[in-house]
Amino acid sequence: MHKFVALFLIATVIPLKTNANIFGGKCSRQDPNVDACLLRSFNNLVDYLKGGAPEMGIEEAEPIVIDELSIALGAGPDGYRATFKDIHASGASNMTITNVRSDLETHQFQLTLYGPHISARARYRSSGVLLLVRASGGGEYWGEYHGVKAKVYFRGAPYERDGRTYLKLQQLKLDFSVKDIKMGVENLDNSNAVLQAALNLFISTNAQELLKEMKPELKRDLADKMSRYLDHILQHIPYDELVVD
Ligand SMILES: *[C@@H]1O[C@H](CO)[C@@H](O)[C@H](O)[C@H]1NC(C)=O
Repeated sequence: MHKFVALFLIATVIPLKTNANIFGGKCSRQDPNVDACLLRSFNNLVDYLKGGAPEMGIEEAEPIVIDELSIALGAGPDGYRATFKDIHASGASNMTITNVRSDLETHQFQLTLYGPHISARARYRSSGVLLLVRASGGGEYWGEYHGVKAKVYFRGAPYERDGRTYLKLQQLKLDFSVKDIKMGVENLDNSNAVLQAALNLFISTNAQELLKEMKPELKRDLADKMSRYLDHILQHIPYDELVVD
């Protein structure tokens, strides 16, 4: 089963024994440098959750699995179309939060994250014409993404439960960019060397364009996964463990 779906399904609320070490201390709303405090706290939380947190029903964060993504370049019956399935991405757990901006009155947070390296593998199928070559077929896709920068914005709404204050996730948005992309295809079904060379030439020279093409769908999928993940965490860890007056 899909890891994040599994995570979602076991989102029954198990009360935590202690959260004392998760954030490594509380941040005060009165602190003029509260964002610096939140930065430390969020990074401590990321470290804590990296290997999974069974007491919260959270599995290890690696790999991120995306069922399917597709791209279309050019219109008409000969336009190039590719579908990527069973995308396994690893390296996201090595991301660190480099900046936090918060508005604690309205419970809004903007996090900047940086990851040195993310790898992805997927099965792909394509159809249409690419560089005058009929690019129909399938095979394996690989991608190495260096210098991944992401921004995550989220807003929560506080509520009381068992005498504690929790946040309920109201909205989450994310965006990302990749400095350097290396990617290609291999093990094509019909092992056509001409097609493979043409595809790889096209893919490696148009990597940023292809990512841009894929981005709306990828952003939706990742925002969806991250929302479920964050919502789950927020159900388990009282907000007053993080922020006090
Ligand atoms: C995270 O970074 C460490 C150190 O660079 C590396 O050994 C490890 O393979 C990385 N983890 C993933 C899942 O990429």
